[in-house]
Amino acid sequence: MNSFTKNNTEKIYITGEQKLTGSVNISGAKNAALPLMTLSLIINKDFNLYNVPDLADTRLMSNLLIDLGIDINWGKGNLTFNGKPRKDEASYDLVRQMRASILVLGPLLASKGSAKVPLPGGCAIGSRPIDLHVMVMEALGANVIFDRGFIISSLGNEGLKGGVINFPKVSVGATESAIMTAVLAKGQTKIFNAAREPEVTDLANCLNKAGADIKGLGTGSLIINGVKELNKVSHSVVSDRIEAASFAIASSITMGNVEINNINPKNLTEFTNVLKLTGSKVEIFENSMKVSCSQKPKTHNVKTDPYPGFPTDLQAQYMALMAIANGKTLIRETIFENRFMHVPELMRMGAKIFVNQQEAEIYGVKKLKGAKVMASDLRASMSLILAALAASGTSEIDGLYHLDRGYENLEDKLTDLGAIIKRSN
Ligand code: UD1
Repeated sequence: MNSFTKNNTEKIYITGEQKLTGSVNISGAKNAALPLMTLSLIINKDFNLYNVPDLADTRLMSNLLIDLGIDINWGKGNLTFNGKPRKDEASYDLVRQMRASILVLGPLLASKGSAKVPLPGGCAIGSRPIDLHVMVMEALGANVIFDRGFIISSLGNEGLKGGVINFPKVSVGATESAIMTAVLAKGQTKIFNAAREPEVTDLANCLNKAGADIKGLGTGSLIINGVKELNKVSHSVVSDRIEAASFAIASSITMGNVEINNINPKNLTEFTNVLKLTGSKVEIFENSMKVSCSQKPKTHNVKTDPYPGFPTDLQAQYMALMAIANGKTLIRETIFENRFMHVPELMRMGAKIFVNQQEAEIYGVKKLKGAKVMASDLRASMSLILAALAASGTSEIDGLYHLDRGYENLEDKLTDLGAIIKRSN
């Protein structure tokens, strides 16, 4: 069971400079589990999900779905969903806590014929508009209005109709919204410039097993032939490539030797190529990889991009590694406008970094030093954990709420690898 923050005074203390060694099992992907869970709004009987990570975000999504009327049985990593939504309005108190709540919009509309979802609001890493989700609903025949902080969408007599969706920019969430809504629309939907992230493909795979007809999986062009209903289905959530890569960096940054299990290395190709270029040894097997490092990292510039490019969700963690590299690294963030908030915190640990709009220049230092730091968002918090693992002395990391949103059993997993880490007030 995950030790979610019990109160906001809890902190993580890490004493660094321990080489991590051993093996770690990677959990199911949060970013796949969240959209998959919302399918319970349109698969009304015996929908089973396995390998669901127990995280603050998946618990929150579960509460949101229960509030809408879905019956959920949580076993250890396994969830069974039954029943239909009883109402069409998502709870403001729950939605405001998590951006990904917007994912209920399409399935709720498909199930109830109308959906009232509070605007999720901005978040630390950027303004994060939802215009593309709205575009999807309208393209599939919904009428959408905004009223007192709610997105209110409704269908006419004809219900959901297939349409053409040409995304002006790649969006993971909006592609997922389009897929989940179009599977039950009358006729054919074509989606262009779709996100190709493995989590999107996992969603489509689960839907196809439930009787949906989605073609073009893993490409930017999807064709969906609507079906009348979806059948019961059991599906195992794809493993978390961001967690896997975070542990790979933990191995490299501590000059350790870690075997990372329960993964699909194909989903990590761009990342592992980059890690090799920085001097780490990466051995790839069918469902695992071994990452070791015996030298100071070499610099290598990266630019974040939609999949299969370098993930924005690894930018902060990679920056921690480059903070101790031999020389200067450029990191360019192209997905979110405000995703360098870990920089001042890394600098508190002795990193030398200059930010100019969307680009960070990192000048590797000999050694990071433990300090008191504050996590600002989910991936930034992992970046600070990684820096603390490499730093001399003890670091104190505050703002654990963010970390608990996305890393299952992190302290236990790191302790098993030899880290000195504890959570306390
Ligand atoms: C998902 C991931 C998040 C990851 C991000 C990019 C989940 C739960 N979260 O977030 O961890 O960092 O993909 O890989 O899967 N945009 C618009 N209008 C919209 C929607 C998005 O302009 O309606 C913009 C965003 O502001 C951003 C870009 O599109 O600049 C990509 O965002 P998107 O892929 O939608 O991110 P999320 O699905 O929210």
